[in-house]
Amino acid sequence: MDAAQLIDQIYGEDIYASFDGTGLDEDLQGWGGHQFLLQVIEKTQPKLIIEVGVWKGRSAIGMADKLKELSSAVPILCIDTWLGAQEHFQDKFRADMNRSAGFPRLYDQFMFNVISRNHQDVIVPLPVSSLAGAQMLRKMKVKADLIHIDAGHSYLEVKSDIEAFWPLLSDDGVLVFDDYGIWGGVTQAVNEFAAEKSIPLIGSHGKALMSPSRNLRFSTKLTKIATGKWAPK
Ligand SMILES: C[S@@+](CC[C@H](N)C(=O)[O-])C[C@H]1O[C@@H](n2cnc3c(N)ncnc32)[C@H](O)[C@@H]1O
Repeated sequence: MDAAQLIDQIYGEDIYASFDGTGLDEDLQGWGGHQFLLQVIEKTQPKLIIEVGVWKGRSAIGMADKLKELSSAVPILCIDTWLGAQEHFQDKFRADMNRSAGFPRLYDQFMFNVISRNHQDVIVPLPVSSLAGAQMLRKMKVKADLIHIDAGHSYLEVKSDIEAFWPLLSDDGVLVFDDYGIWGGVTQAVNEFAAEKSIPLIGSHGKALMSPSRNLRFSTKLTKIATGKWAPK
């Protein structure tokens, strides 16, 4: 299924055509360090990607750019409440949240950015909580070859996101975590899940990857690390 078909199935209308971005300019403020993720896209050539935790779309747009560089136009399903995470209530994020009467305008900014980068043909927004999104996609029988988890960073949030999205992976699919080895809650939840399932972790540059497939073969550029251990760059 391509992005247009997914948008039609979820919304029954062209959500990009009815978007009104009056008063906005492109703003790709976000977090970098997604080289590992882009390398995984190159190695695994996914047919469907899910991102959980999207913000203004910087990492999703990075993935869309990479797909097009590889002459691929597979859909990226982007799940976010677009309300920010706990940590975004700190003063330093106030301007970035662009709130109106306390309510963030992150979704509008994300939509504006996707359109300004011309990625409406691959990016499919799903503005719900991660757990609701996982349940919706299970009902739609969606399976993803790559899932990027970058929503709430506390232990309980990451643990529940892993448990919710693991069943949505295709047999050779990969789950990539942002901020592994950097945020304690992310590292603990990922380590525990990998140990419980006896699956190896592969990591580099603040990301970790795990897969239900034992047949995945990666180039030596990706550093294989033992379960629970962080491999320094
Ligand atoms: C760190 S930001 C994502 C950054 C983005 N991947 C990038 O690299 O630019 C985390 C995002 O997760 C979203 N989020 C946090 N908890 C969530 C939840 N339970 N369900 C859906 N989205 C959530 C927030 O709204 C926020 O946009």
